[in-house]
Amino acid sequence: MSDAEEIEYPDDLIAFLESVWGWGFLSPGGPEEVARIVEGVDLRGKKVLDIGCGSGGIALRLARDHDAGEVVGIDVEGPVVAKAEERAEEMGLAHRVSFKKVTPGPLPFADESFDVVFSKDSMIHIPDKETLFADIYRVLKPGGEIAAGDWLISHDGEPSPEMATYIESEGLSFGMASPARYKSAMEAAGFTDVRLVNRNPWYKEVAREELAQMEGPLYEAAAKASSPATVDHNIQTWRLMLGVLETGEHCPHHLFAKKPD
Ligand SMILES: C[S@@+](CC[C@H](N)C(=O)[O-])C[C@H]1O[C@@H](n2cnc3c(N)ncnc32)[C@H](O)[C@@H]1O
Repeated sequence: MSDAEEIEYPDDLIAFLESVWGWGFLSPGGPEEVARIVEGVDLRGKKVLDIGCGSGGIALRLARDHDAGEVVGIDVEGPVVAKAEERAEEMGLAHRVSFKKVTPGPLPFADESFDVVFSKDSMIHIPDKETLFADIYRVLKPGGEIAAGDWLISHDGEPSPEMATYIESEGLSFGMASPARYKSAMEAAGFTDVRLVNRNPWYKEVAREELAQMEGPLYEAAAKASSPATVDHNIQTWRLMLGVLETGEHCPHHLFAKKPD
């Protein structure tokens, strides 16, 4: 994305999302949800790629709390990468955690560069899942792993009117796909042990609480961090999101796969 193109996560939205989801998080669940994603993966000393690193909280925690040896976070937007780089410096982790603004498209890394590819709630912005997973396969070392989370839709047909209204309210470039499509894209790329875990039951509950917070005790602080208009708009978006979480059409998943040795 060039600087002339529209920024989807400007400072105002970063501030709002972090006031709801926590320091350095542009997705739900906090450090606990990240820990659940990487639970079965030994990150100690490993080289990790974080696709769609956002404002950096997760990449930094993968190094600090999960002992990853080196983490490279990539993102297509300038404001999030600037924030992430500032934080790496502040935390004294810049020697192990680096951030890079990239253009959408092939991953700018040599073949077999990483032990683990992590991503959280960012692949939703990359519509061509088949090309994405083939490229992830390319940059992983033999024996490497995917440990990721993303926001999926339960089917590959036209979104229901309720889902379409919710996506429109988000106003972000969502390119959602079904669990079946993710699975076949990973398998077609050559991955084995492909496993998807539906996080809809978990997020349905969490999102309800997030909305209650936004409508109540969090309102003032979130409005101060961003603006009342941003909070009011997001309250509407969360209400729409809860509807499609209830039906199961919006179904965040964890994604796991291995590249054979
Ligand atoms: C919902 S945020 C999640 C950020 C972070 N993973 C987190 O959980 O806090 C999605 C991020 O994906 C980034 N993104 C969008 N398209 C991308 C692409 N093609 N490659 C890498 N990142 C992308 C956005 O700029 C944004 O920072």
